[in-house]
Amino acid sequence: MRETRLSPDDFIYPLFVTYGKGIRKEIPSMPGCYQESVDKIINHAREIYRLGVPSIILFGIPEHKDEKGSSAYDEHGVVQKAIKAIKNAVPELYVITDVCMCEYTSHGHCGIIKNGDVDNDLTLEILAKEALSHVRAGADMVAPSDMMDGRVKAIRSLLDTEGFESIPIMAYSAKYASSFYGPFREAAESTPQFGDRRSYQMDPANRIEALREVELDIEEGADIIMVKPALSYLDIISEVKRTFSMPVAAYNVSGEYSIVKAAGKLGWIDEKRMMMEILTSIRRAGADIILTYFAKEAAKLLNS
Ligand code: PBG
Repeated sequence: MRETRLSPDDFIYPLFVTYGKGIRKEIPSMPGCYQESVDKIINHAREIYRLGVPSIILFGIPEHKDEKGSSAYDEHGVVQKAIKAIKNAVPELYVITDVCMCEYTSHGHCGIIKNGDVDNDLTLEILAKEALSHVRAGADMVAPSDMMDGRVKAIRSLLDTEGFESIPIMAYSAKYASSFYGPFREAAESTPQFGDRRSYQMDPANRIEALREVELDIEEGADIIMVKPALSYLDIISEVKRTFSMPVAAYNVSGEYSIVKAAGKLGWIDEKRMMMEILTSIRRAGADIILTYFAKEAAKLLNS
C-alpha cells in the first residue's frame, strides 16, 4: 500500500572541492561532510558510486578570489580539475556542477558588483563562461544557482554554439533567500561580505512568484527545475510538480541537515528515522530528485 518509495538513485550528493593536496577537512556545522582536495575527492567519489548514489554536484573553494570571480572559469580551477579527475577515476558517476559566482568573488555575492549592487546582465556572460569551462572539463550537467534573470538562456545558447547541445541544465528556479543556507556558507566560504542575497533570491512568503520563476526557466531551456530549500517549501515542490510536467529536483539544504545532526548528537531525536521521514516527505511532495547531504547514509540504510 506504500505510495512513496525512496531509492539511492533518487539522490544527488553535494561535494566541496578545495585546492591543495591531502586535504579532507570536516565541516564543523555539517558533521560527515568535508572540504576535500582533488586527490581525496576521487576516493570519496568511488565510495558514493559503490553505495548506489549515481550522481554528485560539485562546489568549488578556489585558492584565489577577486572582484570578478575570475577563477570560476579558469580551465585549471579546482572544480575543472576535480571533474577531470573524477570522470577519469569513476566514469559512470554522473557529475553535475554548481554554476555560481559566490564562491569565487572576494565580496561573496553571486554576481558582479556595479555601484554597490549585483549587476544582472554583466553577470550572465561570466556565468555562461563558467558553465562552458565545466562542460569542457567533462561535466555531464550544469546547475546555475545564482538566480540572475536570463542565466538559463545565456548558458544554453553558449553551450549550443560550442557544440554541447546535449548537456542538460538543472536550474535552481525557485530559490528562496533562506536562513537554512547558513552552514553551507561556512562550507563553501561564500558568506556575503556586505548586504544579503535578497535582491536576487526569493521572499519566503511568496508562492505565485515561484511559479513565474519556474515558467521563465522552462521557456529559457531548463531541463530540470529545482526548488530550494526543500522542507519549508514542500507546498512549492508540490505545486511546481503539478503545474509543469517537468522533472523536479528539491535541495534538502545544509541547515535542514545540520538541525537533524545537532539534535541527533544531543540524543533528542531518532536521527535515522527523522532523516528517512524527511526524505520521504520531499519525494511525496513531488520531487523526482533530491540533492541531499544525507545521500550516503540514506543509501546505506536502503541497501541494508
Ligand atoms: C550558491 C548556493 C548556495 C547553496 C547552493 N548554492 C548558497 C546561497 O545561495 O547562499 C546552498 C546549499 C545549502 O545550503 O546546502 N552558490
